[in-house]
Amino acid sequence: MCGIIGYIGPKEAADVLIDGLKRLEYRGYDSAGVAVLNGGGIEIERAEGKLTKLEAKIGKHKPHGHLGVGHTRWATHGVPSERNAHPHRAGDVVVVHNGIIENYEALRKGLLQKGCRFRSETDTEIFCHLINEELKEHKEIAKAIRSALKKVRGSYAIVVLYAKEPKKLFAAKSGSPLVLGFGDKEALVASDVPALLPYTRDVSFLEDDEFAILEEGHLSVFDEKGHPKPAEKTHIDWNPVMAEKAGFKHFMLKEIFEQPRVVEQTLMGRVQLGSGKLTLEGIEKVFGKKGFPFKKIEIIACGTSYHAGLVGKYWLEQLAHVPTVVSLASEFRYAEPLIGKETLVISISQSGETADTLAATKMAKEMKAKVLGICNVLGSSLGRMADNTLYTHAGPEIGVASTKAFTGQLTVLYLLTLEIAKRRDKISKTELIKKINEVRSAPQYLEKILENADAIKKIALGCKEAPHFLFIARGPHYPLALEGALKLKEIAYVHAEGFAAGELKHGPIALVDKGVPVVALVPPSDTYEKILSNVEEVKARGAYTIAEGEVGDKHLADKVDAVIPVPKTFYSITPLLYILPLQLFAYYIADAKGCDVDMPRNLAKSVTVE
Ligand code: G6P
Repeated sequence: MCGIIGYIGPKEAADVLIDGLKRLEYRGYDSAGVAVLNGGGIEIERAEGKLTKLEAKIGKHKPHGHLGVGHTRWATHGVPSERNAHPHRAGDVVVVHNGIIENYEALRKGLLQKGCRFRSETDTEIFCHLINEELKEHKEIAKAIRSALKKVRGSYAIVVLYAKEPKKLFAAKSGSPLVLGFGDKEALVASDVPALLPYTRDVSFLEDDEFAILEEGHLSVFDEKGHPKPAEKTHIDWNPVMAEKAGFKHFMLKEIFEQPRVVEQTLMGRVQLGSGKLTLEGIEKVFGKKGFPFKKIEIIACGTSYHAGLVGKYWLEQLAHVPTVVSLASEFRYAEPLIGKETLVISISQSGETADTLAATKMAKEMKAKVLGICNVLGSSLGRMADNTLYTHAGPEIGVASTKAFTGQLTVLYLLTLEIAKRRDKISKTELIKKINEVRSAPQYLEKILENADAIKKIALGCKEAPHFLFIARGPHYPLALEGALKLKEIAYVHAEGFAAGELKHGPIALVDKGVPVVALVPPSDTYEKILSNVEEVKARGAYTIAEGEVGDKHLADKVDAVIPVPKTFYSITPLLYILPLQLFAYYIADAKGCDVDMPRNLAKSVTVE
């Protein structure tokens, strides 16, 4: 939800800002803008629409200077337009902002009464005027900013450029993320790590209510009382190439193809072939040295991460025998959940910055539950909030529709299930070794599925004009049906629904008509026959049936219009494999329709507003 960047150093600021915004564009793409300070004053360029519009506008007349701020917007207050695009300016103060100011109406009214004139409909412009007002009392800009921030309620990450301090940038945050970058004779700040990677891998995550001053080659951090404090440095082992397309047409396609490696890396160091040893870093902080001190598990997450949690429930209940509830973070917060010391809360978030997930996690902590995070971004807010975090080693995920993070989350959930089953004596050593060997083989099976991508493309293109799609499955594959439908909705803008196959007859089957594509997930399982009956039912009503099933399953092939074969594997890891063809299926349909796969309309990757 909005990407911001600030730069001070020897390079042309505009180049660094535009490059950074490209890497942050997944956070919002309603408009973009940059402000650069030079001897001639502040130059601001803004454009409605994607970053390419801003680049075209700037053309050869790039603003020159070595200090600047940039922004890519996901609109909250005020329509997407050039007028509402950031940076916003009042007098000598320029601000870029990510977040929402909740008391903005009241603040705006007060500022209007003082004679301030607003040029936009945004809440952000409040900051510019508030800071100017405070400057009348506090001569020092840092004090004026800090004092202005005290008047604001809501969430924010801001970077401020002040024309009268041409060698400094100022940054502060509460609720929305900001990360500082230590460059060589330069300093940077951005909403997310990928924007900093070409310049530095030494970063520091700003905490809520902290304040930072950036100077060439120097960064100072202050605590909420304004006392200087050492910036805690983290070295990021992602490299800039990981955040590039590497020859793929879209980030999403690249990320789908990265999944064998993601599973491999997420397993690395945690399990070994032929051994029953599991190493989940820091798990004792939550579970203690031995045993499992909880009676139940509550999983909280949003979007795709929520679907991963739903798969986790099946594993945790079937293999570790722990009662597990999965809640949407946005619902959990208002549902008066029955949790306490006896509950293990697992918060799942790719970004670690989703506002609802963070708020729900905070609430769980206040209710004395222990929180285990599953997250992809080191140093993210979730990572800092949870009692311990298990990281998915998926590398930066740029495509707005999550793919590789999902398989990373499933991998961690599977290992966590085995760890809990082991601690609860619900699994024998032999069985544990077998299960570890199973999951170790997942990357090679995923490779096999990818080798078949062209055949999946052909099936997808065969139904690309269909206006409705149904996905059906049972057991741990049911959440995959939900996820497969979500991918299609997100990137191809077609109506798609996922159903538990047994529920079809209770209503959804009324949607089936001649030619409606129904995608069924039919791995060998206890419910194989039952789901085949469901396939028959939709077929009898004219559906175009596509099934994912085990390679060589002739019985299945005879019954459906098209088959997507998945390698023969152990049942427990099938969710890790069966999701991949569904991601490709959605991708090929969206691409054939000419949709902007990496930046679907109205969406943003990191939803930092509630
Ligand atoms: C947004 C993204 C989804 C993602 C969800 C949760 O809606 O577009 O792809 O699944 O947020 O994000 P998180 O970072 O918490 O996993």
